[in-house]
Amino acid sequence: MEREAVLVGIDVGTTKVCALIGEVSADGALTIIGKGTVPATGLKKGVVVNIEQTINSIAQAVEQAERLSGWKIDRAFVGVGGQNVESQNSRGAVAVSGHDREVSREDVNRATEVARAVSIPSNREVLHVLPRGFIVDGQEGVKDPLGMSAIRLEVETHIVTAAATAVQNLQKCVMAADVKIDELVASSLASAEAVLTETEKDLGVGVADIGAGTIDIALFSDGSPFHTSVLPVGGNNVTMDIAAVLKTSLQVAEELKVRHGTCDLRSVDADEMISVSVLGEEAGRTVSRMELCQIIEARCRETLELLRNEMRATGHGMLPAGIVLTGGAAQLAGLSELGREVLEMPVRVAGPTGVGGLVDNLLTPAYSTAIGLLRWGAAVTMSGEPVRYDSAPAGGLIGRIRDALRNLFP
Ligand SMILES: Nc1ncnc2c1ncn2[C@@H]1O[C@H](COP(=O)(O)OP(=O)(O)OP(=O)(O)O)[C@@H](O)[C@H]1O
Ligand SMILES: [Mg+2]
Repeated sequence: MEREAVLVGIDVGTTKVCALIGEVSADGALTIIGKGTVPATGLKKGVVVNIEQTINSIAQAVEQAERLSGWKIDRAFVGVGGQNVESQNSRGAVAVSGHDREVSREDVNRATEVARAVSIPSNREVLHVLPRGFIVDGQEGVKDPLGMSAIRLEVETHIVTAAATAVQNLQKCVMAADVKIDELVASSLASAEAVLTETEKDLGVGVADIGAGTIDIALFSDGSPFHTSVLPVGGNNVTMDIAAVLKTSLQVAEELKVRHGTCDLRSVDADEMISVSVLGEEAGRTVSRMELCQIIEARCRETLELLRNEMRATGHGMLPAGIVLTGGAAQLAGLSELGREVLEMPVRVAGPTGVGGLVDNLLTPAYSTAIGLLRWGAAVTMSGEPVRYDSAPAGGLIGRIRDALRNLFP
């Protein structure tokens, strides 16, 4: 199949930076041709806290991917995480402008600009303005209004924003690693591209990417996102609980969790003991597997309750196609069962699917964001008409439109 584009995705996570080079064919198939994953040390809960270390991690991941593929990375789609990512929904309306009264691309863009112009504090950066649907002369539920005869066009948008300084620090690190930014993409929306089906999005579904430090959430209905947010908890919290209660190092706690942990207490034998000595530290100690799993179950239950409360607060406590859990920490045994119990809806754990090429190790939940960034990039590239707003600094075109509107409507 003919190559359409070669794209790069960089997921800058709390525990790892992953750079992927993907080849997209004309029919949309994605083939991984380069990858680099290195441990990240410069982030806390998805936010850059050490510029130098983060630049190094990104540069190393990029270099690995370049070496493997033989390509030089020039620009990339980059994921944005961290609790500072928030969203709101906004409507914008315009009069259809052409003398033929037919909705044009320009009308759609103007309506979207109006929707975007609402009350976004200056310390926040707009990542996405995603049209969810259009209202054409009062008729709701129009997905594509182009070419329709109309007098008034209204668009309903989902706007995702992040703290401007956090975004700037991330941009700084990527650019210092000699990579330009195609687009900054909310990590949850990237993960959604990797693990959700179109049918699920139409029905109503959520993705929760449980990483080390954060849960990236995106909730969908009628095919598009209506809520994007990030909770500041993740797999690290489970590990820290284990270390605190069982008085082990974090490294031992992590190994205990991954090797012996489960959220399903019914599957654990009450007498089972685990020898900590096999883990290369604290020789001779044993811990009760039941005690270990009780710690894990309690923290995971609480985490899922936070997710449930976040969903309820949006007014959509129940989504017909349920929740898809992904991210490294979603691999914990028994999590989908516990999820169904706490969330009271369908829950599945998933990683990326339908990708070819150098995929060994990549088809696990920890790589949903990285692969999703490529899928996002492919969609933007193939559509030819990207809904893309390059982060314009204040005073740029967007800022000027916003300021003009402020002046008009004080
Ligand atoms: N087999 C496993 N079972 C349980 N947990 C696991 C397993 N493998 C990895 N984890 C956990 O997954 C987490 C890392 O996940 P991931 O790689 O998605 O994080 P990240 O993207 O670096 O972080 P974030 O998205 O929060 O910025 C760690 O907390 C780790 O303990
Ligand atoms: Mg992550």
